[in-house]
Amino acid sequence: MQISALQLNEKQKTFFEDEGYLVYPAFLSKDQTNKLMLELDQNTILRASGVYSKLELFEKIGWITSLPNLITIVSQLMEDSKFALHHLHAVKQETGEKGVNWHHDYEQIPVSNHSHKMVHCFFYVNGLNGQIGDLQILPKSHKGICDYSMPKVFGDQELPGSKTFSSLSAGTLVIVHSALWHRRRKSNLGSADYSRYFIDASYCEYGIKWPRSKRFDDYDQIAQESNFTDNGKYDYLYNKDLFFHYDDAVEFEKNNEGSYINRKEN
Ligand SMILES: [Fe+2]
Repeated sequence: MQISALQLNEKQKTFFEDEGYLVYPAFLSKDQTNKLMLELDQNTILRASGVYSKLELFEKIGWITSLPNLITIVSQLMEDSKFALHHLHAVKQETGEKGVNWHHDYEQIPVSNHSHKMVHCFFYVNGLNGQIGDLQILPKSHKGICDYSMPKVFGDQELPGSKTFSSLSAGTLVIVHSALWHRRRKSNLGSADYSRYFIDASYCEYGIKWPRSKRFDDYDQIAQESNFTDNGKYDYLYNKDLFFHYDDAVEFEKNNEGSYINRKEN
């Protein structure tokens, strides 16, 4: 469903709940996309030289994570619950870029319920033109609860009922429920004059602890120093107390073997 207004009506909210995604064409302004592309160009040079830090990139483009229009939309999808940034990723991709097989990104160890909401915001900074990394999603797939191993079974197959985004205008934002199955198609061989500038930011609802990489704990401090918090207004977005570290969860899966009733009795 394509949306332009920031305030979602009931039909749009229901669509997100049922289908698992929303599309905002040209969500970012021309100024914003230019700024982001410049930073990602710089970042690509740093990556190539081996001097690359995800946190430095966050300093440069982290302002996108507290854009008031974005927060207005995500707040409604979270049904007015508070939420915090899980991570920000950004990359410039060229012709020949490999694809990513079917997967979902709902963060839970083990994945056993969707009691609290997590959303991924995919920013197609300069759009998509069918040459590099079309987005494919499987609408409604977030309605089922499954381990990360499940979607992987299907590799890069075309799945019945899936939807492909191969043509998106610059600055388009696609928001998905993080449990929605999706994949990135491998690059079509075509002209080399197009690069794909992609950013994703994901947010987790307050109320439970979510797993996350330890290195993102520094978001909090960087957001304060760079005033992504807008003088305190968005402090809640960068609250690291909402997260625990993957490293601390290595025993979870092991301890989860077999039947719950047996573990309870032991
Ligand atoms: Fe993903």
